[in-house]
Amino acid sequence: MKEVQDHYFKKAKTEGYVARSAYKLEEIDQKHGLLRNGLSVLDLGCFPGSWMQYAQKRVGQKGFVFGVDLQDLQLPLSPNMGFIQEDVFNLNETHFAPFIPPFDLVLSDMAPKTTGHQQIDGARVLGLGQMVLFLAQRWLKPSGNCLIKAFHGPAFEPLLNQMKGEYKKVKPFKPKSSRKESKEVFLLGMGRIWVPKETNE
Ligand SMILES: C[S@@+](CC[C@H](N)C(=O)[O-])C[C@H]1O[C@@H](n2cnc3c(N)ncnc32)[C@H](O)[C@@H]1O
Repeated sequence: MKEVQDHYFKKAKTEGYVARSAYKLEEIDQKHGLLRNGLSVLDLGCFPGSWMQYAQKRVGQKGFVFGVDLQDLQLPLSPNMGFIQEDVFNLNETHFAPFIPPFDLVLSDMAPKTTGHQQIDGARVLGLGQMVLFLAQRWLKPSGNCLIKAFHGPAFEPLLNQMKGEYKKVKPFKPKSSRKESKEVFLLGMGRIWVPKETNE
């Protein structure tokens, strides 16, 4: 397994990605055709920026990629990329200027700080996942797609079930480049359904 990790680490260095995570997004993209020329992408928890690098290549000059993270991004940004250092719980539309929501695709590779206490960590994972779903209801185009990093554990089923109510199809995906021992699994919601609730106003 270590060899596989080294393989992706070396590949990222050779191909100029700031992290090996780029290959997780690449695998999901190759399987489900997430990205294409001209799309607008919101990348939540984007630091150090390998998903932004990959997405920017795929959407080309006609698309754009906007990243958000608690940590400041060191990545050089081209004119069709934007970034705000912010907690996703504090986001509002003014942060995206000059880009204008809604987006075609919302990505989240975020994980909360863990405590080692299963119930507390589960609640944090669920809270973060639900925040992504809430933001997607506000800023993702109808029929747009949403990819969320989730974890096997107490938060998994509730998040999956909520997503099933908000997307036409929901598919779990464990990329080969994800560490086998890691509990991470990505949930891909395809085709956002408009959910009528006050949060949509
Ligand atoms: C695994 S990293 C993302 C890697 C990134 N996809 C890449 O390819 O370079 C997860 C990021 O989520 C960010 N994060 C976690 N909670 C956050 C929050 N509430 N608001 C914004 N960013 C958050 C962390 O700061 C961390 O940089």
